[in-house]
Amino acid sequence: MSQDTYPPSADFVSKAHVSGMEAYQALYERAEKTPEDFWAELAEKELFWFRKWTHAFEWHPPFVKWFVGGTTNASYNCLDRHLATPRKDKLAIIWEGEPGDQRAITYQELHRLVCRFANVLKARGYKAGDRAIIYMPMIPELPVAMLACARLGIMHSVVFGGFSAEALKARIQDLDATAVITADGGWRRGKEVRLKDAVDEALVDCPGVRDVIVCRRTGSDVPMQEGRDLWWHELEQGVSDDCPAVELDAEHPLYALYTSGTTGRPKGILHTTGGYLLQTTMTMKWVFDLKDEDIYWCAADIGWVTGHSYIVYGPLSAGATSVIYEGAPDTPAWDRWWSMVEKYKVNILYTSPTAIRALLRQGDEWPNKHDLSSLRLLGSVGEPINPAAWEWYHRVVGKSRCPIVDTWWQTETGSILIAPMPGAVPLKPGSATLPMPGVIADIVDLDGKPARAGQEGYLIIRRPWPSMIRTIWGDPKRYEDQYWSRVPGAYFTGDAARRDEDGYFWVLGRVDDVMNVSGHRLSTMEVESALVKHPAVAEAAVVGKPDELTGQAVCAFVTLKGGGWDYDNLGSELRDWVGHEIGKFARPAEIRFTDALPKTRSGKIMRRLLREIVTTHSVTGDVTTLEDFTVVTKLSG
Ligand code: WT7
Repeated sequence: MSQDTYPPSADFVSKAHVSGMEAYQALYERAEKTPEDFWAELAEKELFWFRKWTHAFEWHPPFVKWFVGGTTNASYNCLDRHLATPRKDKLAIIWEGEPGDQRAITYQELHRLVCRFANVLKARGYKAGDRAIIYMPMIPELPVAMLACARLGIMHSVVFGGFSAEALKARIQDLDATAVITADGGWRRGKEVRLKDAVDEALVDCPGVRDVIVCRRTGSDVPMQEGRDLWWHELEQGVSDDCPAVELDAEHPLYALYTSGTTGRPKGILHTTGGYLLQTTMTMKWVFDLKDEDIYWCAADIGWVTGHSYIVYGPLSAGATSVIYEGAPDTPAWDRWWSMVEKYKVNILYTSPTAIRALLRQGDEWPNKHDLSSLRLLGSVGEPINPAAWEWYHRVVGKSRCPIVDTWWQTETGSILIAPMPGAVPLKPGSATLPMPGVIADIVDLDGKPARAGQEGYLIIRRPWPSMIRTIWGDPKRYEDQYWSRVPGAYFTGDAARRDEDGYFWVLGRVDDVMNVSGHRLSTMEVESALVKHPAVAEAAVVGKPDELTGQAVCAFVTLKGGGWDYDNLGSELRDWVGHEIGKFARPAEIRFTDALPKTRSGKIMRRLLREIVTTHSVTGDVTTLEDFTVVTKLSG
């Protein structure tokens, strides 16, 4: 093994759920050789079932069913089953609002809150098979709403609060949702993010929505539309504290989460109940080495898949005490996170390289002001972690004492697929290391031929796994095309990777037109379609440009209709326009106005050339198919 390897300490190994490389290998081999027995045994031991399944899985490529014939309920697994154990009085959620308000919620109390809100939904006539959009700030009522939906079999789709009214509308329409659960607003950097206003704007074009349930968070004035808008706290008056969890098929849809694909239209990634819950629960133990006494903090937003799997379903099913924070890491100052680690004695912290880089930039004095000795394990997700960020996270945050689990996965995979088991697998900074049990990962060329050690190729997964995407909501054809037809018989991740001589995976980034900005997936086409909706824009081509802080930054090349524009003002107008169409986080960092875009003779924009221009300021690749070479000369000049 190379020098830059960090084996787990003897102390960590002795206490870990999986101790030592041999234990990992034994688990891995068992899952590979007898997957049905492996998963069936875990499902029986780790989850509650109303009725047991008849077989572990049924695979009719590209469609899979897990725990066929079994019935269960995600909300029951996250709540009710803990109530018969000492976890009943354990804290499920430690919550802190940005202004500093706090709540501590036990499993018993969370169960009560979820039952009450489920009764509200029931009284409004919602039932299994219905679909609800949840658009809320990071307050306890967000997981409460998710778990209440899950309790009744209502499929939910959480829309990240940073998305605009336009983006919200597209999701409500695609899902045909009949209920929207929201709040007046939330706090971010001391300002109110007015969510209800965005809902009002979106709903102008969503006649299918019957109810808008509004949770009071900021207390600001919001107009309530008679016959449509209802206050959460008013609906809850007089409801019962008890609401039985509905017995649902293991394959009952749990949620659809929209993510960017390679077209302008986001896709609803569908996850179902039993398999999803099992694999999120298992990875809490395998990757985070979760113990009952741990205080666990995943600092992501619940609006992204990381929050679904590792703030809500995984941790609660595993019985964890989990910290949730509403606001920004720099409010009131850049030590907000560190003060919370100290105050709540956080043991496990899970965040993204982009957040680590932002914190690193502020200097060591912020973490050094606080006692971080409670930390025992650190996690990273969203993009490859660069050496400088890894080193700082390890030394300054973890005091060279905490393993860092670099976790590779996707919205589609539902749970972590490649990551070290921290008591078993020696770390190599920048590598997500080895696959989880049951995950048959490989690297191939486009003919499906396996790559040699060190050779770059496409990352694929060869067999179905319990928490995998079941389909794209309303578009099974796109599901098949996108994921199962590039390399026949295998799941195509869209990532490039290589494996080293020790079998470690090094994920290099996307191979498609998907950007990764601050760990958020964004499609070039989505931003382009937003730009061309502006009356001044004739054409737009968007590429990701390497950025020290955000990994990639959005860079847009734009041609205009007619002439005589005030470029300075138009640039910022277009940026805001994209913010309005998608969300502030999608605003281009840079807009370059140009007379023409590089195109092939068949009229296809050559983004590859633009990527080269923003990365290296020159073009060296093949340009023989280019229609007009002078365009490139002008652009790179
Ligand atoms: C894409 C998935 C999974 C939750 C957050 C993002 C990239 C994710 C890693 C990692 C290298 C990573 C990949 C992947 N990615 N984690 N540890 N190392 N790359 O979810 O929006 O579905 O994006 O993020 O490119 O395909 P997502």
